Amino acid sequence: MLSLFRKKTKHYADLSSVYADMHSHIIPGIDDGASDMETSMLMVRGMMDLGYKKLITTPHVQWEMYKNTHEMILAGAAAVKQKIEQNKLDVEFVAAAEYFMDEHFDELLKEDEPLLTIKNNLVLVEFSFIRQPIDLKEKLFQMQIKGYQPIIAHPERYLYYGAHKNWYDDLKEMGCLFQLNMLSLCGFYGKKQEELAHYLIKKKYINLVGTDLHHLRHIQILKSSSTVTDTVNRLLDSGMLQNPDL
Ligand SMILES: [Fe+2]
Repeated sequence: MLSLFRKKTKHYADLSSVYADMHSHIIPGIDDGASDMETSMLMVRGMMDLGYKKLITTPHVQWEMYKNTHEMILAGAAAVKQKIEQNKLDVEFVAAAEYFMDEHFDELLKEDEPLLTIKNNLVLVEFSFIRQPIDLKEKLFQMQIKGYQPIIAHPERYLYYGAHKNWYDDLKEMGCLFQLNMLSLCGFYGKKQEELAHYLIKKKYINLVGTDLHHLRHIQILKSSSTVTDTVNRLLDSGMLQNPDL
């Protein structure tokens, strides 16, 4: 009886027009995302509830924390895909990676190891939240020389850019794409990240949106936020987002 009176969370989110998510941590047991296959499947179902038709998952490749080789990522993705098929879930699932720009990443580039791409030559990269790497531009340039197009993951989360907003201009001038974490739009990471997210949108600097899904709570927050759906749909209407083409 009690459940009749329990307040239900209103389901606002409909991200079906985004079509493809390109930043998540769904493969079990290889980073700080899903811990087991059961959780992975709940995540996949949750993403389908949000309206997604394609999931490009991006495990961390960060050598100090997550020594994920391309083989490990692809094997993990194949196992998740098999479960998706067993469960007859109608969603496309592929893997790329979120590369932390550390020395290991330099090695991969130097050794011409083919990077896991979001699509074509698009590669998702991240770096320190504490300070911008001094050689960031050089590293991005090295990627470009090898034929890759860098996508900067969650630029609004590098708070040191708040005091140096011209650094964003520099990255854009270099030809980097920017991927916004949708959770930043509802203040999930903090007020400053939310403000930077809106600053970047106003500058028309955002090219892609991602969930950066690590756990089921992220889906609940996205589901209950009308701000996220409204803002993302506005971005889609303005033609800025490349997600539907992935
Ligand atoms: Fe991530």
